[in-house]
Amino acid sequence: MLAWGFALVFLLGMGMASGDVSCPSGCSCRYLEVNCTGQQLQEFPAAIPLDTRQLILAANNVSYLPAMELSFLADLVYLDCRKNLLGDDLDFTFIGVVKLVYLDLSFNNLTQVTFSTFSHGGAGGRGGGISSGSTPWRPLAVRGGAG
Ligand SMILES: *[C@@H]1O[C@H](CO)[C@@H](O)[C@H](O)[C@H]1NC(C)=O
Ligand SMILES: *[C@@H]1O[C@H](CO)[C@@H](O)[C@H](O)[C@H]1NC(C)=O
Ligand SMILES: *[C@@H]1O[C@H](CO)[C@@H](O)[C@H](O)[C@H]1NC(C)=O
Repeated sequence: MLAWGFALVFLLGMGMASGDVSCPSGCSCRYLEVNCTGQQLQEFPAAIPLDTRQLILAANNVSYLPAMELSFLADLVYLDCRKNLLGDDLDFTFIGVVKLVYLDLSFNNLTQVTFSTFSHGGAGGRGGGISSGSTPWRPLAVRGGAG
């Protein structure tokens, strides 16, 4: 538990220490935007800057979104996961933590994405600043299915 706390402080410290921070290999990073389009990624990329607002993972082979890592991206508003291999075992708990307004899950291996998918995603329990126990949050724009 203590080690975990130190790791988190270290990560946050790194994010603040330098402007350019890290960019996942194969991706291009601009101010608050990480674009990993068409990199044949099999997994959610590591080392995404924590202040990222727009994350584009379109046209990869990602089959799983790690809710834990996503929940660290507290400023994320735009997540484009078009054309991946995400399946019905997708863990949507990150939805309740981040401030997503746009989520594109079209062209994946999901059989269905409905608003009820998000209605039990949890209500912002992140502690600092975000109210807890309010109405369940959900993205304003969700694209699913085949397009
Ligand atoms: C992301 O990168 C792809 C390919 O490099 C490019 O076609 C696309 O326009 C970029 N998207 C954004 C929002 O910059
Ligand atoms: C990614 O998926 C495409 C289409 O499903 C497949 O042709 C390709 O070989 C895969 N690439 C990798 C690196 O797994
Ligand atoms: C897509 O989903 C089906 C049914 O859940 C599964 O059998 C299949 O292996 C999945 N395909 C990929 C590429 O993950």
